[in-house]
Amino acid sequence: MRKQVKNNVSWIGYTDWELESFHGDDYSIENGSSQNSYLIEEEKTVLIDTIWSPHRFEFIENLEKEIDINKIDFIVANHGECDHSGSLPALMEKIPDTPIYCTANAVKSIEGQYGKNGWNFHVVKTGDSVEIGNGKKLIFVEMRMLHWPDSMATFMTGDNILFSNDAFGQHYAVEELFNDKANQCLLYKEAEKYFTNILNPFAPILTKKLEEIAGFNLTIEMIAPSHGAIWRENPLQIVNKYAEWAKAYQENQITIAYDTMWEGTAKIAHEIAKEIHRQSPETVVKVFNVAKADKNDVMTEVFKSKAIAVGSPTVSNSILSSVAGWLEFLKQLKFKNKKAAAFGCYGWSGESVRILQERLKDAGFETIEENIRSQWNPEESDFVAVDNLVKNLLK
Ligand code: FEO
Repeated sequence: MRKQVKNNVSWIGYTDWELESFHGDDYSIENGSSQNSYLIEEEKTVLIDTIWSPHRFEFIENLEKEIDINKIDFIVANHGECDHSGSLPALMEKIPDTPIYCTANAVKSIEGQYGKNGWNFHVVKTGDSVEIGNGKKLIFVEMRMLHWPDSMATFMTGDNILFSNDAFGQHYAVEELFNDKANQCLLYKEAEKYFTNILNPFAPILTKKLEEIAGFNLTIEMIAPSHGAIWRENPLQIVNKYAEWAKAYQENQITIAYDTMWEGTAKIAHEIAKEIHRQSPETVVKVFNVAKADKNDVMTEVFKSKAIAVGSPTVSNSILSSVAGWLEFLKQLKFKNKKAAAFGCYGWSGESVRILQERLKDAGFETIEENIRSQWNPEESDFVAVDNLVKNLLK
């Protein structure tokens, strides 16, 4: 079923209330999601993006109920990732000669995934445009590395809609379609989680791209991303938020992340939390066992933090695999301008704190010298150092 977006523009995507994860199991979905495809019916009929392949037949059936698909003048593929291109093979079987407008890299990613099928690609660059009739046109803006090399946004003049693809999206199912209809708390929670876990590694590129887009002096009346709610009410609110988030964002928060074997490292984690509150009651403290907590949610808390403390006991001359895997993800997200401390228990050799400090430094954190390294069960004598560790994290 189509839903009207504005004038002759409709949403024709898929709202997935049952989805539980994304990118395999690397991104948790807690409030559903959607893959947004858009249909423009001016003098030209244009389809902007498709949806993920499991829903391709339903997508094409819906499309065929709404229009004669042979009347589609061209398709815009803003991004080749399969959640947006997945229905192309089935659709192109029905309309094989339809032009596909996309970046040169999108040709590579689409042909890489679906083979060289002789599809009629029209490669576009930033500033290229195509008339769609009724005095309106589509202007293309390359969004390289936001978040793939092939990503692109498309701006529709007249209605002033920015089809931004993944940028400004959220994994959040909003049947009512628009940001002003969504639960604001969840909308921002999901937008921030999406930014942290998908876009933060490319934050410096994003800052430059937002400046470039601002330089085009486009009047943006609506931002229609490829996931989640369409920003209809005050659409620039999310652009401004992205500008803020992209510049080494932090709040007055410290996040403690650990795993534990016999509760010793857990005990240190909670001592650090209590001491942060004692020294700075206004600082928000979050404590997570990374083996149990949702890693995307923990990363979103790290994103908001000015400092973190990471703990693991020593096991087999190393750290727990749960913490090691978590640290690998932490490194991928390329956080900037954040301090870090390490802590952990040990029985014999006790390498965990040194390894944690090395990994945190390698992940781009400013590691402080102070640490808590406690043999056997942590005792009051071990906690003496917590005071100084916290002082330095808060400094
Ligand atoms: Fe929503 Fe990068 O795909």
